[in-house]
Order: sequence, then C-alpha cells, then structure tokens
Amino acid sequence: MAYEHANPELLARSITALEAVPASKLTGTQGDIGVDDPATGEQIATIPNHTVETALEAVGLADAAGKLWAKTTPRHRSDVLHAVYAKLIENRENLALVMSREMGKPINEAYGEVQYAADYVRWFAEEALRAGGSYREAPAGGATMITLRGPVGLSVLITPWNFPMAMATRKLAPALAAGCGAVVKPATLTPLTTYLTVKLFEEAGVPEGLIQVITTGSASAFSSAVLADERVRKVSFTGSTPVGAALMELAGKNIIKSSMELGGNAPLLIFDDADLERTIDGVILSKMRNGGQTCVSANRILVQEGIADAFLEGFTERMAGLVRGNPLNTEVELGPVVDHRAVERLQHLVDDAVAKGADLRTGGSAVSGPGHFFEATVLADVPADAEITTTEIFGPVSSITRFKTQEEAIAQANDTCFGLAGYVFTESLDRALNVAETLETGMVGINQGMLSNVAAPFGGVKQSGIGREGSSEGLEEYQEVRYFNVTRRETY
Ligand code: SIN
Repeated sequence: MAYEHANPELLARSITALEAVPASKLTGTQGDIGVDDPATGEQIATIPNHTVETALEAVGLADAAGKLWAKTTPRHRSDVLHAVYAKLIENRENLALVMSREMGKPINEAYGEVQYAADYVRWFAEEALRAGGSYREAPAGGATMITLRGPVGLSVLITPWNFPMAMATRKLAPALAAGCGAVVKPATLTPLTTYLTVKLFEEAGVPEGLIQVITTGSASAFSSAVLADERVRKVSFTGSTPVGAALMELAGKNIIKSSMELGGNAPLLIFDDADLERTIDGVILSKMRNGGQTCVSANRILVQEGIADAFLEGFTERMAGLVRGNPLNTEVELGPVVDHRAVERLQHLVDDAVAKGADLRTGGSAVSGPGHFFEATVLADVPADAEITTTEIFGPVSSITRFKTQEEAIAQANDTCFGLAGYVFTESLDRALNVAETLETGMVGINQGMLSNVAAPFGGVKQSGIGREGSSEGLEEYQEVRYFNVTRRETY
C-alpha cells in the first residue's frame, strides 16, 4: 500500500510546528532561499541568504560570547546542556514534524532522530565533567608535568541535510561542553530544524550569541571567508569527500583544527553460516534507514555463494513490501529522496548497472507524481564495472554481488578509497573478528546494521575522514592540550 497524501492531522500539526521556527536574528542578506517539502515539491518556508559580511559578523559575536563561556565551570556547562536535553525532549513533536517536512524523513524515524540528537546533548553534558588532563612526575625526576585540556576556541560547524538535527547536536554539544562558541551552517535544503534546535538551546539557558546560525547559498564563499579569519580555531564538517578536502585546504592556511566525516562506500559481507533472518533484518536497517540516505548505508552487499539465493529471495521480498509514501503517515517506511537531482542520479545508477548486466529484482524506477520518490530497488549480480559499485548510492537502491571465499570478499571490500563503515554477518566469532580487523573502515557492525550510538567514536579512515564524533574522543576534537613543566626542589 502506498500513502500519497499526508495524514491531515499530522499535516495540520506540522504547519503549527513550522510556525515555531524562529527568524534569523542576523539581518545582512542577499535575498532569500526557498525551502521545499521533498514529498510534494511545495515551498514551505524561506530562509535568509546571508552575506559573507554577515558570516564574519556572526564569527565576531560567537567569538565574544565564547570567550565568556570558556570561563564558566564544567559543572555549569553540564547543567545547561542537561537543561537543553530536557527542552529538546519536551519539544520533540515540533522538531520531528519540521524535520519530516523539510527532509522527507518518515515521521517515526524523525522522532527517532530527535531522541538520537538529544542523546548527544545528554552524553556531552556528562562528558563536560570529565574534560581530562594529567599530573605526573617527569621520568628523570625533579619536575612535575601537568597537562590541561581547554577549549580549542571558536568552532565552525558545517552540517548536512540527511540528519539535520543529530549532525548539529553531535557537533554543537561537544563544542559547548568544551567551552567553545560556534557558528553553524546547516545545508540550505534542511535549515529549519537547525534554527528551531538552536532557539531551544537558548531557551534552555545557552547564552544568546554563543551559537550563530548562518544560511547561505554561497557555501564556498562562506568557507573561504570564515576559515581565513584568525578568530576561527576549529572546523567540523559532515558531507562529501571533495568538499571536505577543499575545506581542509582552507583550514590548513591558518592551521585550524579540523574534523571531517566524509563519504563512504560501505561493504556488507554475508557469509554462508550467517543467520538468514537476522541478516535480512540487519541489511534492511543498514540499507534503508533514512531511505538509504546515510553515509554508513550498506553500499556494496557481498554475499557468499551458498546463502546468496536464499538471501536474495528474502531480502527482495522485504524491499518490495516496504510502505512508501508521504512521510507524515505513521505507516510509511520509505519517504522521498531529498530532491529531483537525487532521483535523476539514482535512475542513472540503476540504468547503468542494468545496461552492464545487473539483474533487476524489484523496483528500479522513479515514481511519477508530485515529490521526489524512488522505488525500493534490488540489483543482483552487479558487475564490477557498474558505476554503482564505486559511487556512494545515497538512496533506496541496493547493489548485490556474490563471492566464493573470504579472501576474495575482503579484497573486494577494501578495494575503495573510502573507509567509513563496514558490516559482517556470520555465526562464527573467529570469522567475525578476523573480518572486522581486516576491513579498512573506521567502524564495523557485526551481525547488525546499526552502528550509530552517542557513546561510539563515529568516523572513518582513508578518504572517509579524520577525527571522531561522539564518545569521549568527540569532546577532544574541541579541546587543546596544554602542558606545564614545574621544576621541583625537595623542601625537607
Ligand atoms: C551520516 O549519515 O552522516 C550519519 C549517520 C549516523 O549518525 O547514523
């Protein structure tokens, strides 16, 4: 069953929620940018197209507020972040509805993202109290060595459209916990959730001015200007590898500390001894969370020959049965993709794979009508030269190939410049750990398709990024270590 229209009650509540999104306090703009609902194509709001001068004004405001914030105690910052957590949870309905309207995330998943995003705030409220540091005797004696971890300083946070709230809090919460001010630049496709989130941070007690939101259609002019400003000491970005590389080049000129969560091409390996039901559940979760629009989504599913037919049959049935439709229906499991360019890209990838010999088991086409929908698609026996094997799919299309031996599967899995996530399904503990250790990825899911957790160090190796988000490592990304050497003389 497909739901073409929004549930009227949820639609009405979403209109009220959109009214709660605040206007920008920064006035220097060069016109407006429209924000569309990807499920209908309808424009639902406009946001300011801030100028570069406004971005630099925001840097000044956040830097000044950040200098005062850095002097507050860890306990104070922790208490404020706990209050933010409570405020976000109290407002979860408005946040989920706004997110669903601007991003197309099915409403149940949007509720899930609000909790996930708020959990980062709670986690870093706790981590704020454990900022680290050490006190030790110099190895040769005669001196005491003290290290302190302090705030790195003004942080520029550039967030993507696919998790408009969680990617903002995953960066903002550790920045604030460490004692930094921040300028956030959300994607122009999904800025409303960020505006609303930051308003709630302020209502919960975050000083006004400490977080500045800049929305601009000129992303590269923004980055060039703010990263050339010596007040900026940190940049954190989630998005594509080419943009990350360009940002690192800009950051390099002023030696700005950088964390980059970049593109992926996640391999998912299924061995003959895997539990079929558990595997299908895991692959659906990894592949189809957020309509396949996650950087950790299973991009290349590699199945051992003995289980391949059974897996393909069960997986195809599940994919074909997913309920597609307007995300403002609680039954919907697959919403739209983010815009018409995404639809065209997916169609191209599917057509190319089929033309080169892939076996289309279900789906394969854009859905006609309003909005930007693509069918849940299964491509089996995809040849190595198909573009889909080297491209981040970012949509509800799965690409499956068969393998004979573990050695062959590992070689294929690691044959990419990316290294964000990988997955392995097997009932053998030895095999699971051997494969996990051999995969060249920053994260590995073993018999499960969900890696994301506030307590986990999220991040990649190779061209998938640098630095980690979440966990205690996520706080360190917003800190600088300073060391004091104290000469000691015996006094007795
Ligand atoms: C991402 O897709 O960039 C993040 C996914 C997650 O945190 O689970």
